[in-house]
Amino acid sequence: MTEAKPKRRIRLSLTMILSGVIVLLAAALAGVLIFLKNQPPQQRGVAPVVEIAPMEPDSAQWGKNFPNQYATFLLTQTNNTRTAFGGSDKISKLEADPRLLTLFAGYPFSKEYNEERGHMNALADVQSIARVNETTHATCYSCKSSNNPGLWDQMGMLAYDTLMFSDMTPQLDNSIGCANCHEAGTMRLIVTNPALDEALKAQGKDWRTFTRQEMRTVVCANCHVEYYFKGDEKYLVFPWANGTRIENISQYYADLKFRDWVYPYVKDYKGTTDHPEYDAIKMQHPEYEMFTADSTHYLAGVACADCHMPYTRDGAAKFSTHNVQSPLLNAETACGVCHTDVAYVTGRVSVIQNQVYDTLIAAEEALVDAIGSIQAAMGATNVDTALLDEARLLHREAQLRWDFVAAENSMGFHNPEEALRILAEATDLARQAQLKAVQATGDAGILTTGGR
Ligand code: HEC
Ligand code: HEC
Ligand code: HEC
Ligand code: HEC
Repeated sequence: MTEAKPKRRIRLSLTMILSGVIVLLAAALAGVLIFLKNQPPQQRGVAPVVEIAPMEPDSAQWGKNFPNQYATFLLTQTNNTRTAFGGSDKISKLEADPRLLTLFAGYPFSKEYNEERGHMNALADVQSIARVNETTHATCYSCKSSNNPGLWDQMGMLAYDTLMFSDMTPQLDNSIGCANCHEAGTMRLIVTNPALDEALKAQGKDWRTFTRQEMRTVVCANCHVEYYFKGDEKYLVFPWANGTRIENISQYYADLKFRDWVYPYVKDYKGTTDHPEYDAIKMQHPEYEMFTADSTHYLAGVACADCHMPYTRDGAAKFSTHNVQSPLLNAETACGVCHTDVAYVTGRVSVIQNQVYDTLIAAEEALVDAIGSIQAAMGATNVDTALLDEARLLHREAQLRWDFVAAENSMGFHNPEEALRILAEATDLARQAQLKAVQATGDAGILTTGGR
């Protein structure tokens, strides 16, 4: 009896030491893999064929020196394969999910909203979208063209953004290109969008001090982020001054009393004066914020480029593929460098995405119900306007959280825990909004007027 005890303790601590060693080994292995994977490709000892001018907008010029990167980059124009929740087929999100017509009612996103495509199509796609009209500013071009770095340098971003979209159109003859991510000559990755430089500065960060591995993520944040247009100039700003989590961003907009549009249900509402802080905000593709919110891959030191621009071989040459697309279409190279069982991890993507999708739809239904009840309450007599305003505020907060996940393009894969956390909160807030609307009228009959 008395002998067994210490033995067990020894076995216990042996197990603990062993698990400790295993954890350390696994961490070391992950580190080594990432290190090995991120070694720069061997430079071929050839002098540049042509000298590339600073901020050269024409990618074909750069392509003379770097034919492999250029050739793979061109493929982004013709990619058209669809995946379960992504891919490059320009399908209509509104047709796929008519609830969006209610959620974006009164806003151009209810006119046309499509699945995104490859980088070479960015300029053509923004020019053909029904959301652009005569009041649209040039700011909308910020993430679409390799002419931008040169133009921002010449005229400054304020003057650029103040111009109208149609005035800028003749000045742009290139879609996204090399100059959006690289410095000519050194070819190092750089921040080219002044809004990103300013947003990092506001957080006390300077990208010039970042490591190369960090830049393999930050370079995508030139565009794959949430943003808004500030003031009459429509100056491009990333709302990160409080941090990049959805709670920080929503607080930032609340303090600013910012709105993108007024919900139609408020239009005939005479209860209170103009309250921009209760109105709607559209979230835009926050891939960077979602991924860096302590996702498993981010914490393990993995970068956007690891999955979306994996190293590829062509004969003796090893280079980063510039055919940026869904990594599910080339999972062997995109995931296979770090994961031995590619079928297993892509299977996990499917499980994660389906779970996030189901949770996302539950949040949407709660939102449609909230809108239905608030709308009904607005038309009712004897409404408690203070309670109704609370309902509107809850709806706004619910919707911008839902949209943070919906507008993020990985259907939760970039950070499953964060996506599910935010959606749970969105659903809760939407149901609270609905109940507040009922309370405001004292009429439980409006509870079911929502969209189901
Ligand atoms: C660990 C690998 C991995 C990392 C790191 C990663 N992604 Fe992704 N990304 C994916 C996968 C998988 C998908 C889902 C593709 C699909 O559904 O077809 C995806 C989807 C996307 C999409 C939508 C693609 C489509 O086909 O619709 C975009 C845009 C995107 N990622 C950008 C980024 C950015 C920007 C970063 C860094 C901030 C990043 N990704 C980091 C794996 C990754
Ligand atoms: C969306 C951003 C982006 C665009 C656009 C882009 N690159 Fe890159 N490029 C990268 C990233 C990320 C890397 C990896 C850099 C690293 O690992 O330090 C890279 C690496 C390179 C390298 C270093 C060798 C290699 O293959 O890793 C060369 C050369 C290069 N790119 C050329 C080009 C050329 C030419 C163009 C235009 C046709 C271009 N790039 C467009 C992001 C971009
Ligand atoms: C200059 C702005 C800009 C930069 C920088 C940029 N992107 Fe994009 N990206 C876009 C735009 C705009 C689209 C959508 C184009 C369209 O739909 O026509 C897009 C589309 C994508 C897609 C979808 C492609 C498809 O076929 O569906 C992926 C994936 C993606 N980007 C990943 C990245 C990654 C990873 C980086 C960093 C290495 C990056 N992007 C850097 C602007 C940018
Ligand atoms: C640069 C290395 C690297 C690449 C590329 C990479 N991963 Fe990972 N992945 C990791 C590391 C490190 C972890 C952390 C868990 C671990 O230690 O095994 C991880 C974990 C995961 C997990 C488990 C996540 C969790 O929360 O438990 C999944 C699923 C996964 N990866 C899928 C993918 C897919 C799909 C791709 C390709 C699109 C991919 N990974 C590309 C390094 C990578």
